[in-house]
Amino acid sequence: MTPIKHYLQFKDFSREEYEYVFERAKWIKDKFKRYEPYHPLFDRTLVMIFEKASTRTRLSFEAGMQQLGGSAIYLNTRDSQLGRGEPVEDAAQVISRMSDLVMIRTFEQEMVECFAANSRVPIINGLTNEYHPCQILADVFTFIEQRGCIQGKTVAWVGDSNNMCNTWLQAAEILDFNVHVSTPPGYEVEPERAGLYGTANFEAFADPMEACKGADLVTTDVWTSMGFEAENEERKKDFADWCVDAEMMAVANKEAVFMHCLPAHRGEEVTAEVIDGPQSVVWEEAENRLHAQKALMEYLMLGRIEAR
Ligand code: CP
Ligand code: NVA
Repeated sequence: MTPIKHYLQFKDFSREEYEYVFERAKWIKDKFKRYEPYHPLFDRTLVMIFEKASTRTRLSFEAGMQQLGGSAIYLNTRDSQLGRGEPVEDAAQVISRMSDLVMIRTFEQEMVECFAANSRVPIINGLTNEYHPCQILADVFTFIEQRGCIQGKTVAWVGDSNNMCNTWLQAAEILDFNVHVSTPPGYEVEPERAGLYGTANFEAFADPMEACKGADLVTTDVWTSMGFEAENEERKKDFADWCVDAEMMAVANKEAVFMHCLPAHRGEEVTAEVIDGPQSVVWEEAENRLHAQKALMEYLMLGRIEAR
């Protein structure tokens, strides 16, 4: 039996697999835009487990599964047995016998790894404290759409060394681009946390302006991620100089785009001028969660297929 393919971290796919998935995302998106039905996942069921809040992830997976001909079921910790201490191993056994695909948003990466180890169906990481691979899948797809090949380009990450930052680092290694990271002191990136052990694609900068110099893509995220709310007030002080503003965009490449996974806090990690300005592609980026994840679900469920 071929082992089940899961998507738990960005590094779970090779560069060649990403090339295929991006090609499929474009094909699926174009077809959808022409209002042509495409139902390769007819009769299949996606279960979505949320232990943290979500707008985009829930909507894009639920709408995406319906558009591919299947259906999606939403479970959360509050009103399922998951919040009442049922072992993850048991939940995985049961849920994966009643569904064809499972997407999980939770706290520890360990939970999705454990779920996958006990599952009969593919598992997708819909965000953990450590990684957010579906978002970077959509972000890279968006960059390619907007500016072409990402290989050899430079992404400037300004802010917290969080799940998004870790995932950008994995993506840089696999797809061969550079990431310039600037975080406040005390919040520096730990390459091991991203599952990397010394990569040539990563450079740290104390000054966010330096990180943005010559960048092709400038990106940031909330100063306080879900699960870290107790640190919010302290982080507001520590991150005050890590707000992406017009000056940072001015030192980036003239053609640079700005991305943010959203939700955003204007006046904190990014100014309104930048996120609502001409270089921002945040709405295209958000929409592409739908198209990229449809390609991801198709690939996990059906493997490689010829364009129809
Ligand atoms: N970017 C993202 O994952 O958004 P949600 O938290 O709304 O799902
Ligand atoms: N880093 C953020 C991303 C939200 C989509 C968080 O984990 O809360």
